[in-house]
Amino acid sequence: MKKLTLDRLLQSQGFGTRKWCRQLIDDGEVSVAGTVVTDYRTAFDTDGLTFRLFDEDWDFHEHVFVALHKPPNFECSRKPSHHPGVLSILPENFTWRDVQPVGRLDHDTTGLLLMSDHGPFIHSQSSPKSHIPKVYVATTAEPVTPELVALLLAGVQLHDEPAPLAAVRCSMVDSHRIEIVLEQGKYHQVKRMLAAAGNHCAALQRVAIGQLTLEGLGLEEGEWCYLDAAELGLLVAGD
Ligand code: URA
Repeated sequence: MKKLTLDRLLQSQGFGTRKWCRQLIDDGEVSVAGTVVTDYRTAFDTDGLTFRLFDEDWDFHEHVFVALHKPPNFECSRKPSHHPGVLSILPENFTWRDVQPVGRLDHDTTGLLLMSDHGPFIHSQSSPKSHIPKVYVATTAEPVTPELVALLLAGVQLHDEPAPLAAVRCSMVDSHRIEIVLEQGKYHQVKRMLAAAGNHCAALQRVAIGQLTLEGLGLEEGEWCYLDAAELGLLVAGD
């Protein structure tokens, strides 16, 4: 059980500085269990706590673990330059609590993107040592052939890599779509591998990370959800 005074509690959830949170409480903007709380020193057990602020109910989250179905034309960078950043899709307080994308998808890539404010989680998920498979479906400009699949499985040489890079798994979906599974996340890796294999990636979607799938989450483009313990448990290395 973790008890926090209401000002610290709001601050921890990204609603601003302690001073600002005290002001919100003072102004009668915050209620817990249907009662407006105006004394910022009131302490609450954070386990399973829901509070109301700005006419919205918020569940307390010690850390944020989120899955977003990334739409096209959003950047994963912290300082987006040509398109809005993916953080603009999430509630504003997530930015304040330093929620960030776990790894990156290109601005035109769609699909499953994890986001969190938990440093060790971000680190372990992004590390190539974790061997967590990322599943992509690429739409190709040229037809998918058995030779293309074989090449990607055997490994293709990218000009700035010391050794060929290979897909962990790869299969044809239909005449112009191919599923490619990678455990690394090198810059534009899928697009560059397809180009090196003599094809061209016309569109790219990440459909799964580990056993966690976009389909299983039921997220439409632009939608996001918190991940529960069972869903986080699906983010594991393949066998
Ligand atoms: N590979 C790419 O080429 N782009 C992405 O966004 C992800 C993987």
